[in-house]
Amino acid sequence: MGRRSCHRKSDRSSVRSLGKDKKKRGETGDATRLVEAGRRPEWTKDPSGTGAIVNPPVWRASTILYDSVADMRARVHDTHERLFYGRRGTPTTWSLADALTELEPGAEGTMLYPSGVAAIACALLAVLSPGDELLMVDSAYDPTRAFCDNILRPMGIATVYYDPLMGDAIAGLVTERTRAIFMESPGSLTFEVQDVPAIVAVAKARGLVTLIDNTWATPLYFRAMGHGVDISILACTKYIAGHSDLMLGSVTAVPALWQKIRKTAYAFGQTASPDDCYLASRGLRTLSVRLAQHQAGGLAVARWLQDQREVARVLHPALPDSPGHAIWKRDFTGASGLFSIVLNGGDDAARVAMIDGLQHFGIGYSWGGYESLAVPSDPQNYRAATQWQAEGPLVRLHIGLEDPADLIADLAAGLERFRECR
Ligand SMILES: Cc1ncc(COP(=O)(O)O)c(C=O)c1O
Repeated sequence: MGRRSCHRKSDRSSVRSLGKDKKKRGETGDATRLVEAGRRPEWTKDPSGTGAIVNPPVWRASTILYDSVADMRARVHDTHERLFYGRRGTPTTWSLADALTELEPGAEGTMLYPSGVAAIACALLAVLSPGDELLMVDSAYDPTRAFCDNILRPMGIATVYYDPLMGDAIAGLVTERTRAIFMESPGSLTFEVQDVPAIVAVAKARGLVTLIDNTWATPLYFRAMGHGVDISILACTKYIAGHSDLMLGSVTAVPALWQKIRKTAYAFGQTASPDDCYLASRGLRTLSVRLAQHQAGGLAVARWLQDQREVARVLHPALPDSPGHAIWKRDFTGASGLFSIVLNGGDDAARVAMIDGLQHFGIGYSWGGYESLAVPSDPQNYRAATQWQAEGPLVRLHIGLEDPADLIADLAAGLERFRECR
């Protein structure tokens, strides 16, 4: 994967280069980069020597055939981004990984995994050893916590949960054993925005590795490496793929940690389907327009919800009352379409009445596709360092690409059902 440009000088002959060279690439806007990244001529050009297809195609493989035993032996020591064995990827995989690396200036490379959770697990295992301590944000995605509690702990790796809003006070939790700090900003379900630069400064002063689950913002709305983070993790299942039709995860790392990430992924046999990588690459090309639309629709719905009596709070990082809003404004360049509402009083039955009758919102896990979703959730069940106290039950909403007016009308009817049941 690495940091090579999508154009190699030796390929200049027949295929017009995209983005020319790395230096020039770094100067382009995000939307341009999304369109051009990962489309190297060697993966798209006509084998006869003239012309090229637009998209690197699907290369499916298990066995790779070598020209000779000598060739086979030579590749054992030089296997990254060369066909070696299907598990280690094909140009379809490398093209997506390359593109994701290009979206994070300062990164060295990206590995791909069969899900976001697999990416999180492998990134943690790459940087932690028995005896180490991990500082984990208390608003982390629940399966991330489960991995820490059920897999890392029995291995002798302790997890200390911390308040997502504590910023540089995290220094007080660092011990001799602390090895890494994991962030997720904004947090799952409750959307606290973390002071990443403050936490990174503490980590750098103490020689700790920093990791972030950057799925909500994507590199488009929050530059993890630009803010000093060492390892950026995406559940590509969400906005990168964008169409609710595949599972995929990625880990992008700075040069100092890249080999560790790569070797750990190899050791665990992590691999991603070329078909899914192709679809995710296709999704990536439209990420900027989709995110802009998720943002606009999300804000329209969130602002309307703010004015409803049945809603006690709207947890949306771009709204001034949301926890960590000032930090979001300082560090992020946009907001995606996922946020939560806290209902005003009522119980689970009233919440269910609201959700069950929705016409335009699906009831289902995940998010980041083109469609709107609503799920009930209870953050108090996933907290250790902080307490979740609320005026009523919580509903997490994903605002898709539908007309916001239709979604608002649907939610208005839902809130009426909630009021009748409350
Ligand atoms: C914030 C966050 N990170 C990671 C994941 C895991 O991704 P996947 O479902 O691809 O395993 C999710 C899934 O919902 C998520 O919401």
